[in-house]
Amino acid sequence: MCGITGYIGKNNTALKTVIDGLESLEYRGYDSAGIAYLHNNQLNIVKEKGKIVNLKNKLDITTLSNMAIGHTRWATHGKPSKTNSHPHSVNKFSIVHNGIIENYLELKEELLKANYKLKSETDTEIACAYIDYLYKNEKNILKTLNKASKIFKGSYAFAIICLDDLNHLYALKKTSPLIIAKGKNENYIASDVPAILKYTNKYVLLDDYEIAKIGNDKIEIYDSNLKLINKKLLKFEGSLESSMKCEYESFMLKEIHEESKVFIDTINNYLDTDFKNIPNLTKYKEFHIVACGSAYHAGLVGKYLIENYANIPVNVEIASEYRYKKIFYNKKTLVILISQSGETADTLACLRKAKEEHIDTLSIVNVVGSSIARESKYIMYTKAGCEIAVATTKAYLSQITVLAIITMYLTKNINLNYKNLEKLIEKETNKDYKEIAKKINKSKNIFFIGRGIDYALCMEGALKLKEISYINACAYPAGELKHGTISLIEKDTPIIAISTDEKLLEKTISNIKEVKARGAKVIFITNSDIKSDFYDYLIKIPKTNSLFQSILTIIPLQIIAYEVAKSLGCDIDKPRNLAKSVTVE
Ligand code: F6R
Repeated sequence: MCGITGYIGKNNTALKTVIDGLESLEYRGYDSAGIAYLHNNQLNIVKEKGKIVNLKNKLDITTLSNMAIGHTRWATHGKPSKTNSHPHSVNKFSIVHNGIIENYLELKEELLKANYKLKSETDTEIACAYIDYLYKNEKNILKTLNKASKIFKGSYAFAIICLDDLNHLYALKKTSPLIIAKGKNENYIASDVPAILKYTNKYVLLDDYEIAKIGNDKIEIYDSNLKLINKKLLKFEGSLESSMKCEYESFMLKEIHEESKVFIDTINNYLDTDFKNIPNLTKYKEFHIVACGSAYHAGLVGKYLIENYANIPVNVEIASEYRYKKIFYNKKTLVILISQSGETADTLACLRKAKEEHIDTLSIVNVVGSSIARESKYIMYTKAGCEIAVATTKAYLSQITVLAIITMYLTKNINLNYKNLEKLIEKETNKDYKEIAKKINKSKNIFFIGRGIDYALCMEGALKLKEISYINACAYPAGELKHGTISLIEKDTPIIAISTDEKLLEKTISNIKEVKARGAKVIFITNSDIKSDFYDYLIKIPKTNSLFQSILTIIPLQIIAYEVAKSLGCDIDKPRNLAKSVTVE
């Protein structure tokens, strides 16, 4: 969601570096892009609606420039337009911003009284003007930003140029992530690591209320009392390739093909001859799993596993609901937050809510050093590597892998055979469902049905299909259709039915027959040896230990979504209106 890049350096490649950085953040989702750059001591601002290429067409990126800030905007306040896009500039200050300034109307009133004229509909221009307004009194950039950080409510990550100090870039953040990266004779600002990987893998993570003052070869970080502090320089361990498409036509396809490796990397991080890197979870008598979107669906899989095998009650909640709801904790409750990015605003708020109640927290997170990872008591990293496609695949698979490992740990069962799974996953990810995609891609509605753990997978399958193909897809417990939804079934309505639990097979088959009798076109996914006439297409997946079965079952659902979206010519990696990391409420 929105991307920030910034450059300052003696190599004078600000335009190229900032545009490169924005391109590597394209996956986050955006609707306009802009840059402010210094050339011959003159600040130039260029912004365009739409893709970065529109902006690039308006620039000569070989122009020498030692300083620039750039932005890809995902509209929150005001429609996508040239005027509303960033950078915003008011008198001495130019800024780019990720997040939402919640008290912007209050600040606007003050600014209007002080005769500021605003051009856009954005909270960002108000923040920029407000910084300028404070600066008129403070006359010191650091003091001004420190004051602003205490006045602004909501979330923000800012990269800032002030005309009174063209030797430094400034950065400031609260809740929205921001890194300051270290290069040779040049330094960078970015909202996410892929933006700087072409140039360096060393960076500092800015914490809330900290201010960075960045020169060509010096990075100074000040805390909320304006004390200069020493921050640890981190090193990104992944490769540049992990953030590149390589020979694949999309990141989503690449990431599906990485799933066997992701599975084994995650397993190897926690299982050896004994369990390792797992906190003591046996002292808890109840779990709350809190997450959004696909991570929430992973939590539902976790609920089935933990309740069925470890006999511990699990309450799974959507973070945006949990954060405002009355929650009944007890001293033996563990709150488990699941998040790929580790920055999802609602999930982070739930973590903080649990901590305020002195409840222990465990996060299952992919991005190392992200806010959720840093703020939770225990952390279990998923080993999915860099996930670029907006629609999650490998990170979801790594989340359900960690939940299966937690179940093994709670049941003290290390002897499960998972050794052959790597090969099985690889085989499943190489399967092709183009024919099935062609049969369903014209449909207005597609239904997914299943029982038990398969229903949780149906929810993920339906979300995957909706978000990248824009076809309405809904998941239902197989026994529930006849309580209303079956009225939507007509000739050739696609039904994707899943049954991998032998105990529920007959029941699910009865439900499939009900829709088949009403004309549905049935795609049946199962691990059972079943031959019959109640389906139109059969997808047979291998049977494996029930703790790991969902890892195999989800793969055809991901590939079907991918093939349907591809056959419709959709932008698979960057579906409309969506962003990879949702750092606003
Ligand atoms: C769907 C998808 C989203 C995310 C959700 C949570 O493909 O990716 O539904 O799962 O936005 O994001 P994280 O996991 O970063 O907290």
